[in-house]
Amino acid sequence: MTPVLYLIACAAGPSQYLDLGVRLAQGRGWNVCAILSPSAATWWEPRMSELEDLTGHPVRSQYKLPWQSDVLPKADAMLVAPLSCTSLNKWGAGIADTVALGIPSEAVHMGVPVAVMPFFNQAQAAQPAVLRSVEALRVQGVRVLLGEDGYEPHPPKTGRAAEFPWARALDAVRDMFARQEADSER
Ligand SMILES: Cc1cc2nc3c(=O)[nH]c(=O)nc-3n(C[C@H](O)[C@H](O)[C@H](O)COP(=O)(O)O)c2cc1C
Repeated sequence: MTPVLYLIACAAGPSQYLDLGVRLAQGRGWNVCAILSPSAATWWEPRMSELEDLTGHPVRSQYKLPWQSDVLPKADAMLVAPLSCTSLNKWGAGIADTVALGIPSEAVHMGVPVAVMPFFNQAQAAQPAVLRSVEALRVQGVRVLLGEDGYEPHPPKTGRAAEFPWARALDAVRDMFARQEADSER
């Protein structure tokens, strides 16, 4: 069975190039479902059908209503990329007021491998809440790709959203998934 990856994007620069991440993940053998924060969904609004055609799944950006059923297959792994500074801090504080946060914040406690790669500048990263939030996610088992082995925040106004290191983020999620598969075969 083709493993299912939820690729979850917030409204940070590289979300505009989410299709690159989707294609790369598909090339590595994932069945990709895209999930967007409501703000990221407004960025994709004019091209949403393109993303749905590319993934072959509806793109979720709102919590479903209580009587609605799931529209996506069950995830084998999740990658939140790009993770915005705002969503990082909300997640760190336990606030899951978007489906883009609700899904991964629960999944990590249900045994699903979850990696995140943030994208924000050094001025945003300087907020004391950022380090606290990163630590809060790491203690829960989320692989936070920030710093040397992930994304290094850029000086303000110099972000290169089109050069977001999707491959590095996908390497991390592949390793987590492979480790879990190996553990489950023991
Ligand atoms: C054009 C534009 C670009 C932005 N780029 C970033 C970014 O790269 N990183 C970031 O953390 N926030 C960025 N923001 C701010 C976020 O979009 C904002 O904090 C938003 O509330 C995030 O919501 P979300 O995390 O639910 O997607 C940007 C905002 C705009 C309007």
